[in-house]
Amino acid sequence: MRKLFAIIGHPVAHSLSPRFQQAAFDAAGIDAAYLPFDIPPENLPHAIDALRTLGVSGVNVTIPHKEAILPLLDELSPTARDLGAVNTVISHGGRLRGDNTDAPGFLTALEKFLEANRLSLPSSAVVFGAGGSARSVLWALSRRQVSRILIVNRTQKRGEDLIESLPFLTKGVKSFALEDRSWQEAIDGRESSPAQDEPTREPKKKGVLLINTLSLQAFAGSDPPFPPLQGVPLGDSILLDLSYVSQRTGSKETGGLTPFLSMGRAYAAPCQNGLGMLLMQGALAFRLWTGVDPSIEIMEAAIRQATGQDDLWKCL
Ligand SMILES: NC(=O)c1ccc[n+]([C@@H]2O[C@H](COP(=O)([O-])OP(=O)(O)OC[C@H]3O[C@@H](n4cnc5c(N)ncnc54)[C@H](OP(=O)(O)O)[C@@H]3O)[C@@H](O)[C@H]2O)c1
Repeated sequence: MRKLFAIIGHPVAHSLSPRFQQAAFDAAGIDAAYLPFDIPPENLPHAIDALRTLGVSGVNVTIPHKEAILPLLDELSPTARDLGAVNTVISHGGRLRGDNTDAPGFLTALEKFLEANRLSLPSSAVVFGAGGSARSVLWALSRRQVSRILIVNRTQKRGEDLIESLPFLTKGVKSFALEDRSWQEAIDGRESSPAQDEPTREPKKKGVLLINTLSLQAFAGSDPPFPPLQGVPLGDSILLDLSYVSQRTGSKETGGLTPFLSMGRAYAAPCQNGLGMLLMQGALAFRLWTGVDPSIEIMEAAIRQATGQDDLWKCL
């Protein structure tokens, strides 16, 4: 019998997952349909019941359900439990297990990007945003040699709560408000940090990973586009954005650049948008559902065709 897979979110019509997941199922010779379902938050419990009733084999979960879905599932993977967020559900005979492939997907995409562009990972990072996807980014950074991490968010308290809630974070992670420019001094190492109490400070290390997890609304109508980056020497930085804009739907000059990445481009800083992460989290979800590695090439081609971005890994 044909298997059913789904993505649930609100809104979900814009999602690229049906395009590239269906292409991967077809290429693997698996008789499956992958469909989007727009589920408003108040209908989430009914939707989970329906997944069980209909025998849906696997689900991707996107905004705004990644956290709210946790208590509705039968079990959680250790990663989903640590992150407090689920983006993938696997049905084992109707028993629903929540997992999180956003976090390892981000890490794999970051490593592929660095390797493709012969870049090394900076030891300092600034994460803009403190929502669901910031959790995945922090999980990934905590697994690599990123010793200094700052969270910069509109709501500083949300950043503080995030630090409190993530068991894998080291003590040196700090939260700043978006309008508080002192994060720039902290990342330069001019401010003392509990994790860095050596008597003589190392000379300032060049290069910072600047990762945007703020929604695109955060950039709407602001001129200059993103005040927190004014005066920051972006040429020393690597800029990553979890969001993406399509070349076909964006203005001709964007070339897949989000507003955040356009600032880095102006300083010739290496830039990558969220399509690489989208691909890798999707490939990991496919593996969890089917036990089979999907064709990354087929998935990538579907994303390239849908967005008009001809390379997901080279600097934008
Ligand atoms: N590439 C991928 O595979 C992938 C995966 C996951 C997410 N994403 C993308 O990442 C982005 C964030 O997702 P999320 O799950 O983290 O969302 P979320 O949990 O809703 O968090 C949204 C973040 O944006 C901030 N924000 C929203 N509107 C703002 C405004 N007008 N001004 C300033 N800050 C604002 C929020 O700040 P407050 O805390 O102050 O509200 C929060 O930090 C989305 O664009 C999503 O599509 C991409």
